[in-house]
Amino acid sequence: MSCQRGVAWCDMPGPAEPRTADPPREPAPFLKWAGGKRQLLPEILRRVPALIAGTYFEPFLGGGAVFFALVAQGRLHHAVLCDVNADLIGTYQAVRDQVDEVIEALRDHQNEAAYFYRIRSTPPESLSLAERGARLIYLNRCGYNGLYRVNASGKFNVPFGRNPNATICDQKGLRAASDALQVAELRIEDFATALGEARQGDFVYCDPPYVPLSATSSFTSYTRGGFTLEDQKRLRNLALELKRGRVPVLLSNSSAPCVVDLYSTGFRRTEVDVRRSVNCQPGGRGTVSELLIE
Ligand SMILES: C[S@@+](CC[C@H](N)C(=O)[O-])C[C@H]1O[C@@H](n2cnc3c(N)ncnc32)[C@H](O)[C@@H]1O
Repeated sequence: MSCQRGVAWCDMPGPAEPRTADPPREPAPFLKWAGGKRQLLPEILRRVPALIAGTYFEPFLGGGAVFFALVAQGRLHHAVLCDVNADLIGTYQAVRDQVDEVIEALRDHQNEAAYFYRIRSTPPESLSLAERGARLIYLNRCGYNGLYRVNASGKFNVPFGRNPNATICDQKGLRAASDALQVAELRIEDFATALGEARQGDFVYCDPPYVPLSATSSFTSYTRGGFTLEDQKRLRNLALELKRGRVPVLLSNSSAPCVVDLYSTGFRRTEVDVRRSVNCQPGGRGTVSELLIE
């Protein structure tokens, strides 16, 4: 095992230690994911029951900020977590079921451009579950800005991030996430399947790909990450059905006129201000208002 100069590649040198040696750490997202909910967390958490008696459903998992926060606060005991991204769900499965192997595999990775491109071009199908999970975590930590993007043939194509301080292997964070994920069923599936299973006593949080802010209520043909206006309508209709069946549901989305229109009847909307990267602002950041919908 070798350490690279100036590179925080692993927080705990040496072979994997017994779990009892690690002081407890709160579970938190171990992947940076577009649309991460860290800033909105307090507003979201105060809309979730103090204790979810049944199952917590999060069908657009991404980085899972809300799931990890609820586990950290002891507010759920069973969860169904879904996403259509198979690489992402496979990584969660690897962290849940084979965290030692994931940590071991991460130890081999290096924060260096030529190495990054070699790992990026390795077909994930040629790797074990743990190696695949470690590959995605590594590409997420060392790729440009933590982006996840694939080309038309499904190959990850984000460039090297040139961040000398990237932490490739946060051993304690991964173990805390693995412990949290023990209560979770992980599924690669469209949101509609999970939403069809929710019953009274359960709680549903939906964070779909946002409608672009520019989309007016008469705009019909946008898609973001393959998520179309038809998908947004399907989600709204399922959320209405859940509410009619007395299953509490919380959604987040942009404050685009089209979203206001979609949720104008049968829902309560609250606008919350969030700091986001905004291309047209000097410095690239600005405050935008987003919607929490109940
Ligand atoms: C806005 S992100 C979720 C962000 C997440 N809440 C977080 O804190 O990082 C949306 C996620 O929805 C997933 N997704 C897109 N279409 C989907 C579908 N039809 N069913 C389930 N998940 C979908 C994407 O792969 C993406 O991971």
